[in-house]
This record gives sequence, structure tokens and C-alpha cells, in this order.
Amino acid sequence: MLPLTRRNLLKSAAVGGAYASGIALAPGITRALASATADPLLLEAYGLTATIDGKAPSDGVMSYRTVASPADVAPPVLRARRGEPFSVRFENLLQEPTTVHWHGLRIANAMDGVPFLTQPYVYPGDGFDYAFTPPDAGTFWYHPHCNTLTQIGRGLAGMLVVEDPNDPVFDGEIALNLRDWRLGGNSQFIEQFKARDAAKAGTFGTVRTANWQVEPSYDAPAGGLIRLRLLASDVTRIFNLKLTGGDAVVVAIDGQPVPSVIPLDTVVISPGQRLDLVLRMPDDEGATVAIEDIRPSTPKTVARLRAVGTSLKRSLGDVPPLTANPQAEPDLSAAIEVPLVLSATAEQAAKDSICGSLGYSFWAINKVPYPGDSADPMAPLAEMKLGRTYVFNLENVTPHAHPIHLHGMNFKVLSSSTRKVQPLVSDTYLVLPDEKVQLAVVADNPGDWVLHCHIIEHQKTGMTSFVRVV
Ligand code: C2O
Ligand code: CU
Repeated sequence: MLPLTRRNLLKSAAVGGAYASGIALAPGITRALASATADPLLLEAYGLTATIDGKAPSDGVMSYRTVASPADVAPPVLRARRGEPFSVRFENLLQEPTTVHWHGLRIANAMDGVPFLTQPYVYPGDGFDYAFTPPDAGTFWYHPHCNTLTQIGRGLAGMLVVEDPNDPVFDGEIALNLRDWRLGGNSQFIEQFKARDAAKAGTFGTVRTANWQVEPSYDAPAGGLIRLRLLASDVTRIFNLKLTGGDAVVVAIDGQPVPSVIPLDTVVISPGQRLDLVLRMPDDEGATVAIEDIRPSTPKTVARLRAVGTSLKRSLGDVPPLTANPQAEPDLSAAIEVPLVLSATAEQAAKDSICGSLGYSFWAINKVPYPGDSADPMAPLAEMKLGRTYVFNLENVTPHAHPIHLHGMNFKVLSSSTRKVQPLVSDTYLVLPDEKVQLAVVADNPGDWVLHCHIIEHQKTGMTSFVRVV
């Protein structure tokens, strides 16, 4: 391999074809798909029995598979290319309706996967054709938007990598899908939520995994630069990640390259969020880097990387910036404000729905708890004019943090009442207790777009609504 100079790093991954050769990557990666062919990729949702806790098989697990990933039980890492058409023929082999939502992708509304708002349910035995051209490169993910606490809770959450032809070439790439499972001592699923926890920070899992394994270990070249793509796909957990034994820089958050270097210890990733790091492996063969969640209540090593081979002697100083994604600049001089107050509610709005209801309403946006998926949805939070800039004034009047996710469009973080913020472009913002935050949104994608808390119990007990762009 060539010495990793800035120039070589900048060589296109598209030309090189592969990210790294000769090293073992995460299972999802080795069978990753070179996409963007004219043929749609067949993606199936199915039920299975799988060993998650390392002890005994769990029944009632749900996953996705493609023909290229028959041996993996965890959903495959799908790969698409920025600016190139990508199409998926989705088939539902589950016993219940579902849909697929492409989290973080700014694509046509009809492809967004939200029952009633953008598409009908995909019933058992039925399918749906998803086709879009990703405008942004980066780390994204796919998951259902139907009966989500059960379906994501039981496994339906996979990573979607959108490559940029100008992506720097690293010595390896590892994707880690971080999530928990609610399993009992007999390895079987237990009640996915407790109402009293849903009304607080959410119900936590009992088994913590990366790529569906408890504390897996991956080999990576000693002294090499590794692109680590992390996804917090858990329905509840917020992570404060730390690396022990290796150094890293944050190069992207929520798929979007960061404008300047952000130290890892200042970043928190909450349900739905992604973090791209460039990690410099230790020089000594056999040395390990531990990826740890140091959140005080629940510290845990989530995965390890082991250095193999003779040191490649790279330097973190050689990491070139990623190419920014195209993003319309907000016009703040003519921006229209949209107040969005996140609160608890005593009002009962929960309606039964084919896509599952938890039967409770605990949360609201602008005092209105979302009743659930319905053919007759409530009015949008705002009607936005195509092309105009809006400022979402989010105010969290609850004692809990809420990762608020907007479909179909990105926002730029303008300011916060409680912390210094970077002007990050993103699709998910973790609003802390008592925080007021201003997010600028250019309404550049027509349609009805859901906005909700990505702590799924909060989403399913009222903290959901939508905006309309016309
Ligand atoms: Cu991860 Cu409504 O989305
Ligand atoms: Cu929430």
C-alpha cells in the first residue's frame, strides 16, 4: 500500500473500489453492497431466532436481509452513492405490517416510509418499491415507521452508508450499530416498556450490543487510520463515547461533515444519531482500543479493535476534511419562527392503530399529543412555503432530554439557551432539560414531514407531529 500522504488519502474511494484490503472488517462491512446498479436491491424484513446475549437463542427477533447477506443475522450495511439512483424492492415477510424509513436522507416524500402521511402500510406478504437518489454522502440508517417500539426493539435497524466519490481512502472502515435488547434471564424478550419509564427517560434494555454482539472485537491494521461509523439505533439509550488505547477525531455527526475539529468527549449521541470518527490504531500488534460508553449511570465497553500487522505509522494529522454536502443556506433576514414546545401532557389522545399504540399519552408538542398513525391526521405544526427559511424555536419544558428528529430536511443549529453550539447541519438534535434551541430549516423539500422524539416510547406516547412544505 502507498504511504498515506494527504495526496493519497484524497484519492477517490470510487477508483480504489474498496476501502481496505487484507483486514477483517465488521461482518456488515465485508458483505456490504456496491449499489447504484439499475437493478433494485431485494431487501426483506423477516422473523428469526438468534442468539443475542451470547447465552441462548432468543425467539421473535426481527431483521432485514439481502441476497448478499444470507449468513448474517444482523441487518446488512447497505451502500449507496451520492447523486446516483438507488432502488430497493422491499418485501415484508413479517407477520405484521411495516414500512421502511430512510433516516436522514433528504429524498422525495413518497419514499419516506411513514404510514398514511407518505405511503400505505406494507402488509405481510406485500412489498414496496423504494427508489431515490441520495443528495448527501455520509452515515445514515433505515428502520420501520410502524409499530416501532416492537419492530426496532426486536432488531429492525440497519445502517446505510452513502459514499462520496471524493471520500478519502482509509486503511479500513468499521461500522458499529449500537443498541440494546430487552431480554430476560432465559434470553427471551421481556415487556418492551414500562409505562412509568416511558413517562420519564424511557425503558432501558438489559443486553447491550454492537452489531448484535456483546462486546465484539474487530481486527484493524496497526498504526492505521480507520473510519469508524457509529449508529445509536437503540430505542432509548444516549451514549457518551470514549476511546481507550487510541486517538480519534470526529469527522461527521449525523452524516454531515463537521466544519471544524470537535473533540469526542464533547459529543453525545442519542437515539437516531450517527458519529463518524477517524481512529488511529495503536502501533503494537495485539494492542486494543476499547470503545466505551462512559455515561455515568451505565458505563460499558461496547466494542474493541485489535491492532494487527506491522504499524502503518499513519498520523491523525493526515486526515483530510470530508467534502461538505450541498445544503441551502438559511436566509435568516426573512426567517419565519415556528415555536415548538416539548412538554408532558395529561391529555389522553392515544388511538389504536395497525402500527401499534402503547395505549398512553405522556408527551406533547405545542400541547398536542400525537394520537398515532391515522388516516385522518391532525393539522400540521406549520405550513411552510417551499424555499423559505424557518427557525424552529424548540423549548424543552420537561426534566428529560429529547432527541428531536426531522424527516426530509436538515436544519442548522443556530443557538442554545444553555450551551455553546457549533453551526452543525443535522437531522436530529438532543434538546436537554430546560434548553431552548433555535434550528434554521430551509423548506426545500415538499411534502408532509414527521418531526418526533427518537426515544421511541416518547414518539409513541405523543411526542410526534409533522410539518407541511408546499
Ligand atoms: Cu429514525 Cu421518524 O425516524
Ligand atoms: Cu423524548
